[in-house]
Amino acid sequence: MRSHDVIVVGGGVVGCSVAFALARMGASVLVIERDRIGVHASRAAAGMLAPIAESLGEGPAFPMGLESLDLFPALVDEIRELSGIDPRYTKSGLLRVAEANEADALRERAVILEAHGCEWLDGDDLRKREPRLAPQVVGALWSPREGHVDAFLLTRAYAGAAARRGAQLRLGTTVSGLLWEGEGVRGVRTSAGEFYAGDVVLCSGAWTGLVEDGARLSLPVEPVKGQMIALEGPAPNLQCIVWGRSCYLVPRDSSVRVGATEERAGFDVRTTAAGISELLSGATRLMPGFGECAFQEAWAGLRPGTPDQLPLIGPVPGAPGLTVATGHYRNGVLLSALTGLAVADWILAAKLPPELRACDPARFQRPPA
Ligand code: GLY
Repeated sequence: MRSHDVIVVGGGVVGCSVAFALARMGASVLVIERDRIGVHASRAAAGMLAPIAESLGEGPAFPMGLESLDLFPALVDEIRELSGIDPRYTKSGLLRVAEANEADALRERAVILEAHGCEWLDGDDLRKREPRLAPQVVGALWSPREGHVDAFLLTRAYAGAAARRGAQLRLGTTVSGLLWEGEGVRGVRTSAGEFYAGDVVLCSGAWTGLVEDGARLSLPVEPVKGQMIALEGPAPNLQCIVWGRSCYLVPRDSSVRVGATEERAGFDVRTTAAGISELLSGATRLMPGFGECAFQEAWAGLRPGTPDQLPLIGPVPGAPGLTVATGHYRNGVLLSALTGLAVADWILAAKLPPELRACDPARFQRPPA
C-alpha cells in the first residue's frame, strides 16, 4: 500500500501552493495531476494580484485578497530560491479607469480606499501616469499596491519548491474517485492504481464536480470560461495594469494580455470570433493605440465558479479526511498564497483562519433527506 500524509488532487496554482505549504511544514505530500503542472486555468490566467480592483473594497473576498497579496513578496523569494523558477512578481500598480458616467462612483471608492494607498487621478495627473488613454477616460482610481505575476511560472515555482521540500508529483494520472473507509476518505483511485493518505485535498478547480463522488459531496463548482488575447508592440508598452469597463490590460514583456470574457459554456475552451472581437474593441476603446499592435495569440481557460462566487476552502462535511480548496473563480492566482497556508494549518493543526469563514464548504451542504 502506497501511503502519504496528504494527497493533493490537482496540480494547478492552488494545488501546488497547498502542496508547498504542507511539505514546508514537514508533511509527506503526493500531488496527483491528470496532465502537467499548471497547464489549464493557471496557464490561461493573466496573473493579476488585484483584490482592490476586483472588489472595490466590498465583500468577504476583499480582506482575504489583501492578506494574500501581502504574502507574495516573501513567498516569491522563497519559492524562487527553492525551485530556481522566477514567477516574475511585479508590483506595477493598477489604474481602474472611468468614463464620465462611472466617474462619481469610482471617485467615492477612491476616497474610501485611501487607507490602502488608493487615490483618484484625473486631468494631467492621470495623463502623466498613462498618456495613451482614450479621451473618453476621464479619471481613474490609482491603486499602487496591486500587481501581477506570470501565473504559469508561479505554479511551476510552487511545485518545484514543494518537490524540494520532499513532495512527490505524479503527473499524467487521472483520479477517478475517492476511497472510502466507513464514512471517512482514506485515499484516491486513479488510472495508476490506488493511493492512500491520512488526508485528501481536492484542488481540481473547474473539474471538482466531476469526481465520481460529486453528488454525495455537494460541491457546486462550475466552469466559467475566460477568453484572452495577447497583443504585441510597437504601440502601447504598458507600465501598470489598466482595468476598464469591459476588459483589463496586463503588461507582460513587450506584449499585453487583454482579458477576459465570462461565459458559461461547459468545458468548451475554444476561442470564438465574438469573444476576440469583444476583447479587441474593449482594448482599443481604452487605448486606441492598440490598433497598431500585432495580434499575437488567443486562448481560453476555465475558472472554477461557485454560486456565491467565493471559494470552498476547508473540511467537507460528512467526509472526514477530505478537505477541499477550489472554486476561487476570478482569484485563484491571488488567493493561492493564503489558501496554501490555510489548508496546511487546517490539516496539520486543525485551525482555519477566521477570515475564511465565508469559504466554509458546509454552506452548500444539502439537508439530510
Ligand atoms: N482574474 C481575472 C479573471 O478571472 O478574468
